[in-house]
Amino acid sequence: MKKIKRLICVCIALFLLAVTTGCGNLNVNNDNQNVNSTNPTYVTDDSNILVAYFSCTGTTEEVAKEVADEADGDLFEIQPLKAYSEEDLDYNNENSRAALEQKDDNARPEIKNEVDNIQQYDTIIIGYPIWFGKAPKIICSFLESYDFTDKTVITFCTSGGSDIEGTAKDLESLCDKSTKFYEGKRFAGASEEEIDLWLETIGLDIEE
Ligand SMILES: Cc1cc2nc3c(=O)[nH]c(=O)nc-3n(C[C@H](O)[C@H](O)[C@H](O)COP(=O)(O)O)c2cc1C
Repeated sequence: MKKIKRLICVCIALFLLAVTTGCGNLNVNNDNQNVNSTNPTYVTDDSNILVAYFSCTGTTEEVAKEVADEADGDLFEIQPLKAYSEEDLDYNNENSRAALEQKDDNARPEIKNEVDNIQQYDTIIIGYPIWFGKAPKIICSFLESYDFTDKTVITFCTSGGSDIEGTAKDLESLCDKSTKFYEGKRFAGASEEEIDLWLETIGLDIEE
């Protein structure tokens, strides 16, 4: 009987140890990275905002335009040097350009255009479509092209249904440690009401 009691005590101790050391942690934080989905509070009405987006079929573009309009930010389209054809975007073909890029950690599709003086912005809102559960690799190219030291970066996405959660984890690691990085929201479309509500949650006072 004593043996059974001791065994139960050991099991409880092991369980408590697992819980306190974070085995049950469902947070997306990893390796000191700080992807955060709560209210940034770093954005204010005085923030100088850039809305940068990548869009192949126009859905993210529509949302980005509305976000820039409502947030009073500048708009920048991340344009690939080599445009994606319909064939390139075929997600049913595991050898399509998009599929191959997304499978390759080192893929960095080239960008054709440049942001004019990124230093003038303190907040960069980045929009992208979800590709195979992640941000398209061209977003990595974009993040590696500029210095985001001390800036706030907030992401949003559009998709056929996948949530944004976890898609920005890889992206934050490409920014400086001082970058305040926030994984934002998935939009199904460019609803002004939904966008205004979101902008208010990230700290902007949107006038009706
Ligand atoms: C190559 C490719 C992969 C995709 N993968 C996903 C996915 O994993 N989950 C999802 O919900 N939608 C996926 N989609 C759908 C797009 O995310 C969705 O249509 C998006 O709104 C397109 O944005 P855009 O019009 O700005 O390019 C994928 C689309 C493409 C072209």
